[in-house]
Amino acid sequence: MRRKVGYCGLILVILFTYSEQSKKQNVAQGTDCSDIKGKNPQAFSGVYWIQPNGVRAPFKVYCEMRADGSWTVFQKRSGPQMKFNRVWAAYKNGFGSHTKDHWLGLRKIFALTKDKTKKWTLRVDLWDHEGNTAFAEYTHFKLGNEKSGFKLHVRKFNGTAGDAIRGVYKGIDQNGFGFSTIDKDNDGCQPCIFGDIALEECAASEGGGWWFSRCGSASLHGDYHPAGDHIGWASGLHWDSWKTSAPYSLKATRMMVKPVV
Ligand SMILES: *[C@@H]1O[C@H](CO)[C@@H](O)[C@H](O)[C@H]1NC(C)=O
Repeated sequence: MRRKVGYCGLILVILFTYSEQSKKQNVAQGTDCSDIKGKNPQAFSGVYWIQPNGVRAPFKVYCEMRADGSWTVFQKRSGPQMKFNRVWAAYKNGFGSHTKDHWLGLRKIFALTKDKTKKWTLRVDLWDHEGNTAFAEYTHFKLGNEKSGFKLHVRKFNGTAGDAIRGVYKGIDQNGFGFSTIDKDNDGCQPCIFGDIALEECAASEGGGWWFSRCGSASLHGDYHPAGDHIGWASGLHWDSWKTSAPYSLKATRMMVKPVV
């Protein structure tokens, strides 16, 4: 009898320790990465728990703590391992590992940018296979809610990569468009024309999910193509205002936001 009680006590202690530990891990360190840096100026780049205002549960993000601001990363691609050809539910909830290639998820990006007391700057970093880099920044970045298809909203462009969101010709502006995946069509075309091929959906040709608009010049979630095999693919990592001559699939990309102070 005494022995049984002993086991029970041990199990209780283990359960208690375990729940205390998981509580500790789930305590948000700020509302976003810039808030964390403000509270703790020594904070390095890395994974942190955040809880935006009005959001019920904290979640993990990767923070890029840089001289030009502390950025909350929501997209990273650098290789073929993490597949981005996924359906609506995956893009909504997120996938991948915060320290590696990943997509944070539309719900979390929406939760982050819906706080009306803040204005968000979006930064898109791009790397090509020849060792060059370029960026695109947009003011007033936010997403609409799920009912709107997580509509993309941006205002002023600034950068060296060109404004691929607005597009390299008229009629393909992705600003104001909902997110599309192979199983959710918000792309504004039916059929969508690719040269002399007509398809029902942009996502079928471009790959992955994006704020496609007939279909547009930006599309960073297509198939990954290694150096030497990165030219000419319909599905790739495209930013056509930077790489203008032929369909060019980039080596790496990153998307992140910071609040304007
Ligand atoms: C454009 O972006 C660069 C790099 O972040 C920044 O130094 C510059 O001030 C920005 N210009 C404008 C007009 O926002």
